[in-house]
Order: sequence, then C-alpha cells, then structure tokens
Amino acid sequence: MRTHLPSRKVIAVLTAALLATGMAACGNSDTGGSGSGDDGKITLGFSQVGAESGWRTANTTSIKEAATEAGIDLKFDDAQQKQENQIKAIRNFIQQKVDVIAFSPVVESGWDTVLKEAKDAKIPVILTDRSVDSADKSLYKSFLGSDFVKEGRLAGEWLVEQKKAAAGPVNIVELQGTTGSAPANDRKKGFAEAIAANSNLKIIASQSGDFTRAGGKQVMEQFLKANPKIDVLFAHNDDMGLGALEAITAAGKVPGKDITIITVDAVKDGMQALADGKFNFIAECSPLLGPQLMDLVKKVHNGEEVPARIETQETTFTQEQAKEALPNRKY
Ligand code: AHR
Repeated sequence: MRTHLPSRKVIAVLTAALLATGMAACGNSDTGGSGSGDDGKITLGFSQVGAESGWRTANTTSIKEAATEAGIDLKFDDAQQKQENQIKAIRNFIQQKVDVIAFSPVVESGWDTVLKEAKDAKIPVILTDRSVDSADKSLYKSFLGSDFVKEGRLAGEWLVEQKKAAAGPVNIVELQGTTGSAPANDRKKGFAEAIAANSNLKIIASQSGDFTRAGGKQVMEQFLKANPKIDVLFAHNDDMGLGALEAITAAGKVPGKDITIITVDAVKDGMQALADGKFNFIAECSPLLGPQLMDLVKKVHNGEEVPARIETQETTFTQEQAKEALPNRKY
C-alpha cells in the first residue's frame, strides 16, 4: 500500500498555522494585567448609564468618536439605567484586564465594593459625567463632569429675577431626574437654595420623571390634574421638559406663557423649544466629554498625575440666545 506523505508545502502551511495559533494564544492569555491588545493600544472599559435622553446619546457619540480619534480600544457597555448592570460590566472589565475603566454612575451610592475590586486589580478608574458618594477618594483617579448644583442654582437665580415683581405666590412644579442620581440630587439642591429667600416662590410638587420624555409627560399630566394653578415648571433635563410640553398643551395651556419652563442640558431639541418660545430658560450641561476623557485615560495609563476634579465649562441660554446659538449647535 502506498503511504501519502505530506508534501513540503503542506508542512510549511501547517507549521505557519500552528505558530499563528500559539502567538494568538499568548496574546489572549493573562499577560500580567497590562490589558493592552495585541496591537499595543490602550484598552478602555466604559460603562454608560443608558440611552435615556438626547444628552446621553450625544455623550455616547462623543465618547465613541473620541476613542477612535485617540486610537484607544473601547469596550462599551450600556447599563440600561440599572446599577446592577453597571457593577456587572465593571466586573467583566476587571476580568478582561482592561487598562483603564471609566463609567458614568447611574446613582451616587453603593460603589465602594466594586471600586475596591478594581483598585485591588490595579486598574485605574475615571468617573465621567456623574460622581459617586464614596468617602474613599483613592478609589478613583479623577472625576470629569459638570457642577450640577451650579446648574440648579443658575436655573433658580434666573427665576428669582423673573418673578421679583410677582404680587402673589408663584407655584412651581419640579420634574426630577433619576432618583438617587447625582444630577437629580444636586440640581434639586441648587435650585432650592437659589429660591429659598423668596417666600412667594413655592415648590408645590416634585417627582421623578427618570430623565425621559415619557416620564416627563406622565408626571406632568399628574401635576396638572392635581394642581389647578401651576406657574412654573423646573425640569431637570430637556427631555422631561419636552415630554411635559405635550401634557401642558393637551391640558389647554400655552407652554412658555401660561407656564414658565426652565430646563437643563441645552440639546438641540431643547434649544429649538427655547427658540420657539415654548421653554423660557436652559442651564447648559455639556455631553461632549469624549476628548477630555481620552486625554485622562492616556495620562492615568502612563502613571501621570491627573487633577482629582475637572469641571466642564458651561453657560445658560435665554430665548434670544438660543435663536443665535441654534444654527451652530453640535448636539
Ligand atoms: O448626567 C447628566 C444627565 O443625564 C443629563 O442632564 C440628562 O439629560 C441625562 O440623562
């Protein structure tokens, strides 16, 4: 019987394939925790809150684009507004030995254990957009984001100025963001502080609309049913304000006239409503955090010192200012 011996060509191909498999196995194995891909790129694990608002969509786009631009390998996870999903994602990133973890915490509390796990694994963590209430500041390297208390205060100060000549009581309803989240807690605080000295300005109802249009509409409907006289709506973001517009119109009232509407964010749809006279004032909250975040990622990966707090630069908009700014608005 004739034996078929493999030709030289076949042996060469098999050897090359074996070598390639071996090299790939080395690349995928635990390489002491550097986490950098075979290509030498920095790997960033990012856990996003969700896709609850126009702001969030713009923030996600900014992060993805900036990662590509910076040559950073991004592992992106959408937590669908659930803390347990974020904790799971962070644990996965730790297991995958990514180089850096960044996340925007859906709520402020309950992060110490998982942050400690990241620290023990020697993976630096950066907080972006929202912060945590951990007493141990060594659990994260930096917090990049807005001053939410200031946003609430700016909204309140504008209202105080507008209503300084009001003769009777001014009834305010408040649409809060996600319960327990930093922007909901802080915007509420800043706004309340700003109006505190004016006894005619009264918050008669305050409830969460979870930062969504649907939530804003539904809660505003309840507010309108329960309160015959509503003079002002303070919504913690544009999306809830936009949802509330539908409820206000359906109740036969004119938004921006019968009810003064103040929101936070200044995304395009919100700015359009402001320019159209349906909203009255917006305190800006910028979602364009991607480039600054990637810069921080590179620095912490290189072991460089970074500021513990980086505050986003923001402004406010009246109806006239919105008309001017709208044509060049990026998000
Ligand atoms: O954390 C930022 C807030 O989250 C934005 O104001 C809001 O629109 C978003 O959902």
